[in-house]
Amino acid sequence: MPFIESEPTLHEYVKQLPKAELHLHLEGSVEAQTIQEIHPELTLHEIQTAMRFSGFAGFLKAYVWVSQRLTTAAAYRIALRRLLESLVSQNVLAVEITLSVGVILWKGQALEAIFEALCQECEAHPAIRVRWIFDAIRQFGAGQAAAVFERAAAYRQAGVVAIGIGGDEERGPAIWFADLYRRAQDAGLCLTAHAGETAGPESVWQAIQIGAQRIGHGIRAVEDVKLMAYLREHQIALEVCPSSNVATAAVRTLEEHPLRRLWEAGVPIVLGTDDPALFATSLCKEYALAAELFNFSREELSRLAANSFRFSFDRLSRELGQHVLPAAGE
Ligand code: ADE
Ligand code: ZN
Repeated sequence: MPFIESEPTLHEYVKQLPKAELHLHLEGSVEAQTIQEIHPELTLHEIQTAMRFSGFAGFLKAYVWVSQRLTTAAAYRIALRRLLESLVSQNVLAVEITLSVGVILWKGQALEAIFEALCQECEAHPAIRVRWIFDAIRQFGAGQAAAVFERAAAYRQAGVVAIGIGGDEERGPAIWFADLYRRAQDAGLCLTAHAGETAGPESVWQAIQIGAQRIGHGIRAVEDVKLMAYLREHQIALEVCPSSNVATAAVRTLEEHPLRRLWEAGVPIVLGTDDPALFATSLCKEYALAAELFNFSREELSRLAANSFRFSFDRLSRELGQHVLPAAGE
């Protein structure tokens, strides 16, 4: 019998593509089963009920609920273990994990013990390169953010590559954080910011004004032709997370999602999952969605994968991308 090589299915193709994940919150990655592993006294039903939500405010509440279940350094470590196992199984070779340090400090926990436990866990997963983004909560204000960013600077040698702001962009404008962003950059940190997710293009302009080099979501840039041109010219990538945007009601339906329009306008894009456990998704699912719903060809999927390395804040991850996806990155 001659050996006939058949075309891989979409799912096989997506899985074998080497990928990096740049928009992923550790707290939002914790599956109900993992919470039960940490808290055996909780039933799966109780956990799933608390993790169900509607709308952006409901999402933030669920996110805080999960974060509050991460009560110890050991709990954070288990959460990371399960996340890295999942990423490795999807052929994700590099990840920048956002850690909600703003929430950790708000909970009154010692960041030192948590981060040490996380770094130890990383050593058990040599198949994936892990870097960190320390994230502050916009609506908590600049005072709280200063404490987060100071820690980011202190942990640069331990793998923190950037800072970010998340939470509610309506209740915490980027401009509040302008001085802190300047200081973080002077300390050698890269800058990202959630913006243009629930607020309009002006919020993305503000994030750019304070120096953001990538934008979390940024999908409402589609409403502003000049902004899309700016992002393209300055190679500021949007970290686009389609399933997240539907789950939080940032867009009404997947069909209305602007992914394809942003791509056609030449805006640099990387796909991410944001909070995969809360949005019932995975990085492979987001790539498959891009193909199935937005008609991305395999060559375009491969360019998305190349972008995921190219826009990494970590030099070694960028080099890894050139090594594993040499043609697509051009
Ligand atoms: N924190 C975690 N996920 C977020 C999102 N989608 N928007 C704002 N803050 C977040
Ligand atoms: Zn996010």
